Amino acid sequence: MANAQPALDAPPSPPSGELQATGTLDIKDSRTSKNYSVQIIQGGVEGDTATRAMDLRQIKTAPDEFGLMTYDPAFMNTASCKSAITFIDGDRGILRYRGYPIEQLAEKATFLEVAWLLRHGELPTQSEYDQWVRNITFHTYVHENIKTFLQGFRYDAHPMSMLCSTVAALSSFYPEAKNIHDPEQRDISIVRLLAKLPTLAAFCYRHIKGLPFIYPDNDLSYTENFLSMVARMSEPKYEANPVFVKALEVLFILHADHEQNCSTNAVRAVGSSHVDPFSAVAAGVAALYGPLHGGANEQVLRMINEIGHPKNVPAFINEVKGGKGSRLMGFGHRVYKSYDPRAKIVKALADDVFKQVSMDKDLEIALKLEEAALSDDYFVSRKLYPNVDFYTGLIYRSMAFPTDFFTVLFAVARTAGWLAQWEEMLNDKEQKIARPRQIYVGYGERPYESQLKTRFPSAKKDVLRK
Ligand code: CMC
Repeated sequence: MANAQPALDAPPSPPSGELQATGTLDIKDSRTSKNYSVQIIQGGVEGDTATRAMDLRQIKTAPDEFGLMTYDPAFMNTASCKSAITFIDGDRGILRYRGYPIEQLAEKATFLEVAWLLRHGELPTQSEYDQWVRNITFHTYVHENIKTFLQGFRYDAHPMSMLCSTVAALSSFYPEAKNIHDPEQRDISIVRLLAKLPTLAAFCYRHIKGLPFIYPDNDLSYTENFLSMVARMSEPKYEANPVFVKALEVLFILHADHEQNCSTNAVRAVGSSHVDPFSAVAAGVAALYGPLHGGANEQVLRMINEIGHPKNVPAFINEVKGGKGSRLMGFGHRVYKSYDPRAKIVKALADDVFKQVSMDKDLEIALKLEEAALSDDYFVSRKLYPNVDFYTGLIYRSMAFPTDFFTVLFAVARTAGWLAQWEEMLNDKEQKIARPRQIYVGYGERPYESQLKTRFPSAKKDVLRK
């Protein structure tokens, strides 16, 4: 992705946000023999190059024709925005938030510091951080009606369905959040979402377990409070295991943003209609739920359970290669064509957690799967490496989170990135309502000739009433 790296000892240049023309691309249309010139533009210090798809519209065979489009299902080669938030170099396994390497942030920062960084572009000063933490802590409580609403879900409802609906429902509690062009309203909505997501997530957990909801404890840190709302029973004050607190903090940082992934794209696309941020973030939660995206962490554990024993790994790998069974979940990535840098950190983190709570019984299967895949030409030739979801499930399970709750943990963390990306999109003068073109491949015009004998089939014929 990147063409040039700044020298390590050079001070990092601040991103200009502007796209610079660096050359032209000459195109000859064989249909008309006409020549066209389109600009090649380059952005930022990392130097990604592109052409504006709209420049191709001038290429046509007749003046009243629509003009040339690009066809790019699944956005394989289309930049939908300029962004100064997250940088990924998929070939070299690099991930940076606002220029800071993910490894350094995971080791030294707190999740709320990273959430501030993602949104504001710079690390917070002490007073900014104190105020930010205070604001978020102050808004952790949710309206009592949310509890009643959650109790309407069945005991076996998937927590991601519950989370998606409750985040969307928050929009009805804060109608003023519609004023997205008012910076104060944006600010309070962002604080509310970051503050309330852990509370909603924990309430979903307690509902599935049939346990009473635990209110936020505002004396605790963000992650400690979350663990308290999940796990506290009759003790007056919850004391979280410090290894779990650190692990969750690191996992939240690793999951906080990942540029234009499926759910972030959903948040930006839905947000581009200028709906309130609660509704836009609910769209992100829905996208994250899918097994090819955030839902993969849950699927990795289900896959490992199915494999059952390290001796069954070779047969499973053969099944995946034969295309008969499922994919190797937790492997492969649209952008990373080498080891996902987050997966490296997660693997090391797993060692710390397993020292505390003894080795996960299925770690051996996971290690064997990784070893088998990394030495198999099918995976090597397709550049399929473990992604962030491969080992996270084993850590979450050691911390006693149920399998279907894993993606909820991802959603809590990704809210920080969704909100930063949503606000960046709103402040970008070039952005408009997201509305892709299509290439119509259906029928031409034809006359309507009904096949129906009757338009209102009688309800008496309903199978259930026979
Ligand atoms: N297992 C087996 N084969 C795979 C896998 C896999 N996990 N991933 C890709 N392939 C094969 C695929 O069959 C195709 O082979 P061929 O060229 O012979 O048809 C080739 O590799 C390219 O795959 P693709 O589907 O065109 O790649 P993509 O960029 O569209 O998909 C992906 C990326 C992440 C959806 C895919 O790798 C996948 O399904 N992985 C498993 C699910 C998973 O772990 N998702 C979490 C992603 S990381 C967290 C997040 O950001 O959500």
